[in-house]
Amino acid sequence: MKIIGTGSALPSKEVTNDMLAGFLETSDSWITSRTGIKTRRLLSTETLSELALKAGMSALESSGLKPEEIDYLICSNVANSYVSPSLGSILLAPLGCCCPCFDLNGACAGLIYSLDIADAFIKTGKAKKILIIAAEEPSRFCNWHERETTVLFGDAASALVVTEGEGFKDFRVTGETHTDALYYKRSLETTPYDRVEEKTTPLVMQGREVFKLAVRSCIKDVDMLLERNGMKGDDIDMYLLHQANLRIIDSIREHLEQPQEKFPTNLQRYGNTSSASIGILIDELSRAGQLKDGMTLMLSAFGGGFVTGATILTWSEVHYPEPTKE
Ligand code: ACO
Repeated sequence: MKIIGTGSALPSKEVTNDMLAGFLETSDSWITSRTGIKTRRLLSTETLSELALKAGMSALESSGLKPEEIDYLICSNVANSYVSPSLGSILLAPLGCCCPCFDLNGACAGLIYSLDIADAFIKTGKAKKILIIAAEEPSRFCNWHERETTVLFGDAASALVVTEGEGFKDFRVTGETHTDALYYKRSLETTPYDRVEEKTTPLVMQGREVFKLAVRSCIKDVDMLLERNGMKGDDIDMYLLHQANLRIIDSIREHLEQPQEKFPTNLQRYGNTSSASIGILIDELSRAGQLKDGMTLMLSAFGGGFVTGATILTWSEVHYPEPTKE
C-alpha cells in the first residue's frame, strides 16, 4: 500500500492560551511549559462533517482519483453529534463516493488503525482505492469549567488516499485496558428496565498516567518495529508522532537518541487533535515539499483505551494541483 493523496482542514476559530486564561485559572506560561501548545482551532461556525468533507475532497483532488473510483471509505472518529448514521455514511453523498463505509474508534491512534485495516483490505483484494478521513472534535468532550483537559485539545480533520504500492513496510497495533486513565461517558436514554446506574461525565484524564503510558507504549512500538525490520533509529528520516504534547514527544526522542529535526511538530498551533493529528502533519509537510521520494517515515500514535499504533513507510511524493487564482 502507498499514500497517493493527502488533505486536512481546520476550524477558522483560533483560540490562544491567553484567551483561555480569560475564563479559566490557567496561564500561557503553564500551558506552554507543560504541553508546548500556544494556540488551537475550535469548531464555532462549522460542523465536524464540514471539516471532514473539506479534508476528504482535498485528499481526493491531490490523488488524481475521481470520487467514484474510491471503493472503501474509512472514517476515524471517537465521537460526533451523530451516533447513527456513521460519519462515513453522512459523507458519502457530498464526497460523490458510492462505496461501503464505516467509522472506527481507535482514539488518537485511529489513523494508524485505519491504515492497518486499509492495508489488509488492499492485500486481500477487498478494496483497491481507499479514502481514510480522520475527523475529531475533542473540544466537545471536555468540561469547559475545568482547566485540566480543555487546554490540551483542538478540533480538526485530515485525510489520506491509499492504493496498491510498495510504501508501507510494517505495522504494529496494540491495545490494553486502562479505562480510568482517560474516558468520556455520554448519557444514554433510560428504559423501563435499566437497573445499572451509569454515571456520565465529560472527559476525565489522569494526566501523569497518560503521559507515562504514552511514552512507554510509543517507545515499545517503535523499538519493536525497528528490530523486526532489521533497522536502527538512524535509518528513519522522520518520526511523525501523535501531536499530544511536546514533552511526550521530547521524552520519546531522547530515548531514541535522535535529533530534534527528525521530529516535526505542529501541536504548538493546533493542540491535540486526536486521530487527525498525524494526517495534518503529513499533509502540511508534503505540501511544503519536506517529504521527499524515498524518505523512510515512522508514524506512531497512542490514545485512550489504551491503544497504540505504529508503522514504517517509504514516502512517494504526492503532486498537488496548482492553487486556482481568485
Ligand atoms: N493550568 C494551570 N494549572 C493546571 C492546569 C492548567 N491548565 N491543569 C492542571 N493544573 C495544575 C494541577 O491542578 C496541579 O496543581 P496542584 O499541584 O495544586 O495539584 C498542577 O497544575 C500540576 O499538575 P501536574 O499533574 O503535576 O502537571 P503535569 O506536569 O503532569 O502536567 C499534563 C499536566 C500537561 C496534563 C501532563 O500530565 C500531560 O501532558 N499528560 C499527558 C496528557 C495528554 O497529553 N493527554 C492527551 C490526551 S490523550 C492522548 O492523546 C493520548
